[in-house]
Amino acid sequence: MAAITDEMNSIVETAIAAITGAGNLDELREVKSAHVGDKSPVARANQSLGKMEAAERAEAGKVIGKARGQINEAFAARQGELERERDERVLIEERVDVTLPARRSLPGGLHPLTILTNEISDLFIGMGYRVAEGPELEAEWLNFDSLNIPADHPARTMQDTFFIEPLDSHLVLRTHTSPVQMRTMLNEEPPIYIICPGRTYRSDELDATHTPVFSQVEGLVIDKGITMADLKGTLDHFARSIFGPNVKTRLRSSFFPFTEPSAEVDFFFNGRWVEWGGCGMVNPKVLETAGIDPEVYSGFAFGMGLERTLMVRHGITDMHDIVEGDIRFSQSFGVGSR
Ligand code: PHE
Repeated sequence: MAAITDEMNSIVETAIAAITGAGNLDELREVKSAHVGDKSPVARANQSLGKMEAAERAEAGKVIGKARGQINEAFAARQGELERERDERVLIEERVDVTLPARRSLPGGLHPLTILTNEISDLFIGMGYRVAEGPELEAEWLNFDSLNIPADHPARTMQDTFFIEPLDSHLVLRTHTSPVQMRTMLNEEPPIYIICPGRTYRSDELDATHTPVFSQVEGLVIDKGITMADLKGTLDHFARSIFGPNVKTRLRSSFFPFTEPSAEVDFFFNGRWVEWGGCGMVNPKVLETAGIDPEVYSGFAFGMGLERTLMVRHGITDMHDIVEGDIRFSQSFGVGSR
């Protein structure tokens, strides 16, 4: 019996040394299979009990059972220790500093020009108009010739217009949205009621009141019996909806090659007359170019700058604010959040 006691003491000693020597839970897992698991010396000793004589087995069983108890106890104790250590470490390593400033993501928002464009589109859609669009890279013929702007017209010089190379491509960056009038008249039969908001280009320097890339909204109506009174009424309604119910408009005689007669439209706002855009009755020559009989149909057109409209309505004094894309500018229009 002394032999088995000695043997078990040495097994227990080795196992406990290994268990207490395990520096972390991974090491302890390896120790477990070597010294605690099914193939460990103590487990094998336990299995050998089956082959013993009954008398011997009772004594040996006690010794081996005690040894297993000691090993299991040492293992459980070490496991508890190592788990506590790990939990403390994780708490420190994975600590979240709740005092750090939060990272905020700004929801996107619409540019004030887009908001204005949508507002104008909604207004005209409500009056039965359709929103028409055309390309910004436009055929020179549609931008100029078809609108009765002759080759020697000053607006056609290099100074105002971005011509696209090679020059014999006869493409320009559209200088106004009026080519969309012609595109629509060529493709559709009257009655035509459209507005065309869009980006336009002229070779201006960017300064407080100019930008080479700007936006216009153009309106076109072709129907039977359309007169200048319809134009004036439409502009009045448009101005009142954009600038307030009491705003007045006036027409001043002017010249555009594609309208006859032509006028500048001004509105009275905050105590002064402000130039808004151009307008007039569609020139019969333009109707003929589009294949529309000027004896049957007549129409009006108008066009205004959207940047200017926005600047006047909101008291914006510098064009840079509109074109530069600083989100703080858009936010002041209630877009996005802080
Ligand atoms: N297309 C003109 C411009 O850009 C504006 C306009 C449109 C004038 C329609 C009359 C009729 O200046």
